[in-house]
Amino acid sequence: MNKTVSLIVPTYNEYDNIVPLVERIHRALSPHNYEILFIDDDSADGTAELASSLSAKYPVRVIVRKDKRGLASAVVDGLSQASGDVIAVIDADLQHPPEVLPDLLEAIEKDADIAVASRYVAGGGCQGWSLTRRIMSKVAIIIAHLLLPATRKVSDPMSGFFVFRKGVVSNARLNPSGFKILLEILMIGKFNRVAEVPFIFVTRERGESKLSARQQIDYLKHVYSLMRRTGELLRFIKFCLVGGSGVVVNYGLYWILTRFAGFTPLNDMATGGIISGNLALCISIEISIITNFILNNYLTFADRNVRGLKAFFSRLLNFNLICLIGGLIQIGIANLLTVIIGVYDLISILIAIAVATLWNYLLNSWWTWKS
Ligand code: GDD
Ligand code: MN
Repeated sequence: MNKTVSLIVPTYNEYDNIVPLVERIHRALSPHNYEILFIDDDSADGTAELASSLSAKYPVRVIVRKDKRGLASAVVDGLSQASGDVIAVIDADLQHPPEVLPDLLEAIEKDADIAVASRYVAGGGCQGWSLTRRIMSKVAIIIAHLLLPATRKVSDPMSGFFVFRKGVVSNARLNPSGFKILLEILMIGKFNRVAEVPFIFVTRERGESKLSARQQIDYLKHVYSLMRRTGELLRFIKFCLVGGSGVVVNYGLYWILTRFAGFTPLNDMATGGIISGNLALCISIEISIITNFILNNYLTFADRNVRGLKAFFSRLLNFNLICLIGGLIQIGIANLLTVIIGVYDLISILIAIAVATLWNYLLNSWWTWKS
C-alpha cells in the first residue's frame, strides 16, 4: 500500500503492552507508510510517557486527553488527528494480533472500503471465552443484525479491530458517546464493499480489561440511538401506522361486505353465516394484507424498493406468508395467555398484537424488503 496508514490506538493504563505492541506493529507494517496515534485518557501508569519516548525510533504520536474518557470517543478524536488516507483501529492490549494488519490492508488495497477483523468467519475465534460470554456476544450481534440493517454485511459488527478508507467517514457525524465505534461507521459511514478477515481474539496477558456490565446497557442505548439517527426507528413507526390502517381496512371491509354487499354475517349461523361470513372475513383480511403491502412498499421501505412486476409479486407473496404466520402467532399467544394462563382477554390480545407486529416487522425487513 503506498498510501499512509494511520493506526488509532486507544489506551487507558496499558503500560506493559506498549513496547511489544509497537514492535509487533512495526514488524508487520515495515513495508508500509504508517503512523501510530495513541489516544490516551491520561493514564496514571505512565502509558503516555512511555509511548512518547518511542517516537524517537518509531512513527509514534501521542495525544493525551485530560477531560474525556471512553474508547469510542478516543477513536473519534484520533480520526481528526490522523494524516493517513487509510485508518486502522486496534486495541493496545494485543488481544488484536497486529500480524493481521497486512491482510486487512490487502483487502482495502483490492477493493474494500472497510475491512473488519472478524471472530466469526472461518479461521476466526475467541480464546478462553466462557459459554456465557460467547452467548452474550452472539446475542449482541443478533440484535444489531435485526435492528441495524447495514450491519448485516458483517459477521462481527462488535469487532474493535478494523481498517477503512478515510473517505468512508469524511462526511459522517459520528456520535462518540456510542461505545461500539464500528457500528457507528457501518451505520453512518458511506461505503460499498466490506471485507472480512479472520482473527483470533486472544486472551489478555498484561493489564486489565476496562469493560464492565454497564456497557451492556450502554450497548442497547447505542443501538436505539443509531436507529433514531438513521431513520430505522421512523421506519418501524411507519410500519405500525400502516398496520393500524390495515386493521381499519380489514374491519371496515368485513362490515361493508356483510351489511351492504350480500354476504351473511358470521353470527347468522342459521342462514349460512359460517361459510359466507368466513368468506367475507377472508376477503377482507387478504385485501388488508394487500393494502398494507402497497403502503409498506412505497412508504416504509421506499428506499429499498426495486422496480418490476415480478419483484413486486414475489415480495407480495413473501409479505403474505409472513403476515399469515404473524396471524398464527397472534392467535397462539392470545390463546396461551387467556385460555391457558387466564389473563384478561383485552390485555393478552394487546400483547399478542405487539409480538406479531414485531415478528412481521423483523421478518419483512429482513426478507421481503432485504436491504
Ligand atoms: N483512551 C481510552 N479511553 N482507551 C480506552 C478506554 C478509555 O476510556 N477504555 C478502554 N480503552 C482502550 C484499552 O486500553 C484497550 O487498548 C482498548 O481500549 C480495549 O479495551 P479493553 O478493556 O481491553 O476492552 P475489551 O478487550 O473488553 O473489548 C475489546 O474487544 C471487543 C471485542 O473485539 C474492544 O475492542 C471492544 O470494542 C470489542 O468489541
Ligand atoms: Mn481487551
